[in-house]
Amino acid sequence: MSEFRLIQISDPHLARRHTTLTENFHRLSEYIDAKRPDVVIDSGDMAFDAPTSPDDLAFAKSLHAALPVACRYLPGNHDVGDNPTAVGPKPSHPVSDQRLHAYHAIFGEDRWRFEAAGWCFIGLNSLVMNTRLAHEAEQFDWLASQLSTLNGKPLALFLHKPLFLNAPDDPELPDTAIRYVPMPARSRLVDMLNAVDCRLVASGHVHQRRDFTRGHTRHVWAPSAGFVIADTRQEVIAIKETGLVEYRFQPDAFEVRHVRAPGQVDIDLDSLLARTA
Ligand SMILES: [Fe+2]
Ligand SMILES: [Fe+2]
Repeated sequence: MSEFRLIQISDPHLARRHTTLTENFHRLSEYIDAKRPDVVIDSGDMAFDAPTSPDDLAFAKSLHAALPVACRYLPGNHDVGDNPTAVGPKPSHPVSDQRLHAYHAIFGEDRWRFEAAGWCFIGLNSLVMNTRLAHEAEQFDWLASQLSTLNGKPLALFLHKPLFLNAPDDPELPDTAIRYVPMPARSRLVDMLNAVDCRLVASGHVHQRRDFTRGHTRHVWAPSAGFVIADTRQEVIAIKETGLVEYRFQPDAFEVRHVRAPGQVDIDLDSLLARTA
């Protein structure tokens, strides 16, 4: 296969009670049906909020299973709980073995590797990082073994949280530490990626569309498929809109297109929270 087409969706935050988010997901599904990529990757927060509404996981899975193209998944903090940080407050719903088991039972593996068009694609569970759960050490061991068998192939990495705002050594701040892969796991991961030919790091989580290159690595923040977060709740870093990201990989090259599916609308988080309050 000389070309591999991939669509990344992220943060659809699906729940039976939020029908407007389901409508946005249907618009994505229609777009995917028209484009028929080789694979769809959802980079996390498939559920609106599984830690407080466990049924959201199964509802989200049912909609993803109905997509017309095979889909790979990665967990988000609203699927499995959040990771602790060195400087921020303790998460109200931390990652736990119990929440991970619930995720595995519905969505399956939370890390994966595959190869296509001369590239290696790896997906990681960014929420176990810095947790000291056995699952974190297992994943780092697994990643080391995967990276040792790249055989010079370029790497495209997918995970829910961006590695950092602008640089690996950006200081962690209490208000925003939960936005990125936490230290010191971040440093360990970045060191591992620096030892291979990592060309792309694709993430979600922030609900802002961003695309920048640092060194020879392109960092793509996929927008939310479902909703945007008002400026009063979250600073503006990039573009606040709903949408998706399309990629075309060829041996030694790739293209990125930032897209909005026809009919996809910008729903404000505040309007969703007001409806359930
Ligand atoms: Fe999200
Ligand atoms: Fe998230």
